[in-house]
Amino acid sequence: MSRTHDIVDPAIMGDESSMYALFDHLRDNDPVAYFDHLDYEPFWVITRHEDIKYISQNNERFINNPRTVIMPQAFEKMLLEQFGTRNGLETLIHMDNPKHRKLRNVTRDWFKPGPVGKLTPMCEEIARQFVDKMEAMGGECDFVKDIALLYPLRIIMSIMGVAPEEEGMMLKLTQELFGSQDPDQGRGEEMGEEMAVLLDFFSYFKGVVEDRKQNPTDDLATVLANAVVDGAPMEELDQISYFIITATAGHDTTSATTSGGLKALMEFPQQLKKLQADPSLCQSAAKEMIRWTAPVRHMMRTCTEDVEFHGQKIRAGESVALWYPAASRDERAIEKPNEFDVERDNRNQLAFGYGGHMCLGQHLAILEVECFFRELVSRLDWIELAAEPEWVQANFVGGLKSMPVRYAFK
Ligand code: HEM
Repeated sequence: MSRTHDIVDPAIMGDESSMYALFDHLRDNDPVAYFDHLDYEPFWVITRHEDIKYISQNNERFINNPRTVIMPQAFEKMLLEQFGTRNGLETLIHMDNPKHRKLRNVTRDWFKPGPVGKLTPMCEEIARQFVDKMEAMGGECDFVKDIALLYPLRIIMSIMGVAPEEEGMMLKLTQELFGSQDPDQGRGEEMGEEMAVLLDFFSYFKGVVEDRKQNPTDDLATVLANAVVDGAPMEELDQISYFIITATAGHDTTSATTSGGLKALMEFPQQLKKLQADPSLCQSAAKEMIRWTAPVRHMMRTCTEDVEFHGQKIRAGESVALWYPAASRDERAIEKPNEFDVERDNRNQLAFGYGGHMCLGQHLAILEVECFFRELVSRLDWIELAAEPEWVQANFVGGLKSMPVRYAFK
């Protein structure tokens, strides 16, 4: 029996072992699987590394608009009515060229390795504060709630112009947007509630734009607030949408990597020992943690012409969903993919996507994870799970919701 319906089951996708079991099955038996479900417009489920890479790098044949993320038809319909597009917002991930290239160019230089490298002292300082907090908690904490959710949040919010006292509100809004399938994190049962989350984001960032126009600094918020596109100031709607995609993409993903990365180190204690002996391995460990956790579960593309994969004919106008965690564990492309190896060469991983939409914040994400673990492993003596971890029930951005740990510092 086809198991493709499981791909929208938050309970299956919100648990590491059932999610990877599903992907192993699909990759081997049904790598281009047709998803047909009463509540959703059909799409194809793509799970092999080579297919995801091919689709991602052919941006003209596989476009991002009009379907970017899997949503129930009823919700897509409501967005269409309210915003005039099935995606609701039009951010970088929802756009195609030429507009996508123009808007991506606005922040491209800011996100390059050189400028991002200048944020190292800030990341190290914030990492130190959070490891201090962990130490001060006296040997027991919920690593997700006390540390991993808050550390990347502070970094991204400081470059997005969000004051520290507003961070809690931003965290809640992001969880409501991305974790909306999870009973503990969605705002409410009604779809109108999700719309309210978007409107809250809008009103907040409008204020930040006004402030950075008056008081420019060298942060990302200033680049966006003063951006010029085609010789004119960037449209307000584009500008606010840019804030939303960067702020939301920029912390949930890195939080999930930080907590999932620590979980991996506890499951593979010899890898933790390696890092403790040589913290300079933390950069390659960060890349491995990103492959291992692949927190962005999927993105969609829509075909502009008929194509065929593994004997399946996909017609122009049909959509494909690209499953990054499935690609990250594909043994056809990645040697011993179920082994966590802090020294792995991760140049061919797809957890950041690929091609014209490849993650804009990838160097910052690696830096954040690297700085945190360099600080932690240098000071940590031992660490173990104190209770079973829990997962967020989501099939867009996923990760741990809670992970109680016990530990001692040196
Ligand atoms: C471990 C952390 C992260 C992971 C795994 C991740 C993953 C991804 C993925 C899979 C995409 C879609 C790529 C595609 O369609 O080919 C993406 C896009 C994007 N990411 Fe990340 N991301 C991470 C962190 C960040 C951070 C820290 C930022 C910003 C500060 C960021 C900003 C963005 C933006 C703006 C896009 C849209 C790019 C475009 O469509 O042109 N991400 N990311």
